[in-house]
Amino acid sequence: MADLPHLRLGINIDHVATVRNARGGAYPDPLRAAKLAEEAGADGITAHLREDRRHISDADIDGLMDVLSVPLNFEMAATDEMLKIALRHKPHAVCLVPEKREERTTEGGLEVAREENRLAHFIAPLRDAGCRVSIFIAADMRQIEAANRIGADVIELHAGAYCDAHSEGDFKERDAELERLREMSTFAHSLGLEVHVGHGLTYDTVAPVAAFPEVRELNIGHFLIGEAIFRGLQPAIHEMRSIMDAARK
Ligand code: PXP
Repeated sequence: MADLPHLRLGINIDHVATVRNARGGAYPDPLRAAKLAEEAGADGITAHLREDRRHISDADIDGLMDVLSVPLNFEMAATDEMLKIALRHKPHAVCLVPEKREERTTEGGLEVAREENRLAHFIAPLRDAGCRVSIFIAADMRQIEAANRIGADVIELHAGAYCDAHSEGDFKERDAELERLREMSTFAHSLGLEVHVGHGLTYDTVAPVAAFPEVRELNIGHFLIGEAIFRGLQPAIHEMRSIMDAARK
């Protein structure tokens, strides 16, 4: 049987900035991490400019736009402030994510179904500017249908519930979440949406998701930045890449 199409690996560098910001100052430098990730075979770099700027800064986004050779996937909340920034930079891709000030990380998917009109208007100028618009959503048919109706190019399915169940040792729940991701990938693909998956993926959880034929990109950050402490960023990325490639065969 032929191999599945190439599965892109987007490296999220937010948490290099988290470590930098713990002390202020300039290091570790997320741009250096992004260039190393590129050299290690990353197909794209993902960075989330949060409203509170807790990790990635405006200057990081300016720098990434200048130095990257691979596409930038700019994650942002659907706010006027972020829209202006995105339209100034016109990154390859914009991924809309929900944002709550008090959350530790992006906890759930975007509620598209309830905000269809507003989001349809919100993404129109981004698409006119040539950005591919991706929406980060739960593996939920209602949200996928709504993302399709508003004209998104891509959906990124939130893998958090699957990964959390795995790390909690609840394998029945993990398998149910995996099945949900599988079914919803197929469903989204059948509507013509490109399917990405992200959040919480590790060496232990990536293979079954990488094997979904409809999935074209995984975005992975926190685990790899942590792993880099022990073995270096590039070896950490190489291992992720080889697990993904093996799963794809
Ligand atoms: N994809 C999206 C849309 C995200 O918001 C994030 C970070 O929260 C990731 C992927 C990467 O997740 P992680 O850092 O857990 O690998």
